[in-house]
Amino acid sequence: MATTTQVEEHVSLKLLLNEKGNKVLFAEAGKDFVDILCSFLTIPLGTIAKLVEKESSIGQVTVGCLNSLYGSVANLDEGCFSTKTTKQMLLQPINSAEDYCNTLKLNIDDTQPTKYFACTNYNACYYRDMSMTSSTFFFFWYKTSSTFKDNLKCRCGNYFTRPVLLKHLPQGFVNGVATFVITDDLTIKPNCIDYTSFSLFKEFGVKNPSSVKEVVLNVTKEKVLDLLKCSLLSKSTLTDLFLEKKPSLERSRFILSDVEIRDNIQINLKLVIRKSDNKVMYAQGQQDFANLLLSFLTFPLGGIVRIFGENCSFGSMNGLYKSIVDLDENQYLTSMEAKNRLVDPCIAPQLKLSKQILPILDPGVLEYYGYFEGVVTSNNIIQVQIFKPGVDKSYAGNFKKLNSSNVMNPVDGYVKGPAMYFATDDLVVAPLTPISALGLLNRLNTPLNELKEKVITIGIKECLSILKASLTSTSALTNGLAHMLTEVKEEK
Ligand SMILES: *[C@@H]1O[C@H](CO)[C@@H](O)[C@H](O)[C@H]1NC(C)=O
Ligand SMILES: *[C@@H]1O[C@H](CO)[C@@H](O)[C@H](O)[C@H]1NC(C)=O
Ligand SMILES: *[C@@H]1O[C@H](CO)[C@@H](O)[C@H](O)[C@H]1NC(C)=O
Repeated sequence: MATTTQVEEHVSLKLLLNEKGNKVLFAEAGKDFVDILCSFLTIPLGTIAKLVEKESSIGQVTVGCLNSLYGSVANLDEGCFSTKTTKQMLLQPINSAEDYCNTLKLNIDDTQPTKYFACTNYNACYYRDMSMTSSTFFFFWYKTSSTFKDNLKCRCGNYFTRPVLLKHLPQGFVNGVATFVITDDLTIKPNCIDYTSFSLFKEFGVKNPSSVKEVVLNVTKEKVLDLLKCSLLSKSTLTDLFLEKKPSLERSRFILSDVEIRDNIQINLKLVIRKSDNKVMYAQGQQDFANLLLSFLTFPLGGIVRIFGENCSFGSMNGLYKSIVDLDENQYLTSMEAKNRLVDPCIAPQLKLSKQILPILDPGVLEYYGYFEGVVTSNNIIQVQIFKPGVDKSYAGNFKKLNSSNVMNPVDGYVKGPAMYFATDDLVVAPLTPISALGLLNRLNTPLNELKEKVITIGIKECLSILKASLTSTSALTNGLAHMLTEVKEEK
């Protein structure tokens, strides 16, 4: 490919507009565009927070409390965190489907890819282990922590310096030949006999074929960023994006979902509530509370939609998610594994805590398979594919399972304890000291006698409710704990 080309990288998209030209009826696209759309579901919320603050033609947008939560992590002192890399891990959370996303034609996620290394003497280890039952020692490290790499040795005595290329074959999420119809709310439908017919036109109220307008667009990286922003806020994403309307904000509902709960957790909180309107000004708790809120940044978008289903009105994400669930993996996706990465995305294993706070969205247990392009020599590139255990890998060819070893031993929490933290209603998290409490009360600008305190214990149900409220409102605590606040009124 020419490197000197003046044409900006783009993917092509065809739109069908209504008669007046003020609404997108649907779009038609191939793999390049649909893969980008699918990849949104794999992005961790921390990365979402980072991306929506970037400038693009629709400007910065606010997604619930995500921006303020993310910003407060950036402001937290490194000393609060349990390891040197934890802060970085939360600000640049690893996407567990990075191996799929790094082949996207346009990738808006500028998170540094995780680097993987094998032993310098990999080939010797590889061959020795072939004859033994145990597998090759293989190892990966977090991108910014050079110290790990330099101090660790393979059991053969060599250091881990040989770069490994993480690659998933076949590439991307959807079938390369198929084309798709995408509705205004980002429902993806295969271009098949059910849709390429009158029924599709009828569905969109097209009476006269000559009255609709067709537009062909080149979607650039900046437009993809706009697409992500609109898709989080609006149910008419394509219209808002391409006809340059302001995203039409959805008003969200707060329904507590019936999520199956196995191991409940208990987090003790003290809420500081404004008497006049029952608004939670802030909550204070220990490190478990801070860890809970920080863990939100590690959750992939698709995992959130999976948990809350139709009860979380989150832009066009539900439509997108549901339509991928309905796509036939044999025909329209590259593999069942690809579909699984989208509809059941996991937290990257590197972000794992020794005891996961919410027993949902478990960090993935991933298996690593190594292979060489061509014959094994001392300098050809080691390529590695990741799979979830149990998936059918038969199409992947002759791979050798690697003994992966994550040098980052799981920590108990992202922040150290014992420590006290507070979180404001919009989830600004900071250490709590008598002096910081005073500063906070000053900023609230509310006389002390207009405030009251309430001690509560929250479980998974409330945690999920806070999470849900944090995505769609800037009052995560007031909305998420609403059912506990009304009790306060009754007490009086
Ligand atoms: C994987 O490597 C570790 C570290 O050398 C070793 O302790 C473990 O036994 C290995 N596991 C297998 C299955 O070979
Ligand atoms: C899209 O890009 C192609 C080059 O790849 C160019 O020929 C075409 O004119 C562009 N279309 C639009 C609508 O900008
Ligand atoms: C959504 O809420 C309704 C009513 O509370 C409930 O019946 C349904 O199971 C919920 N769905 C999900 C996916 O949580």
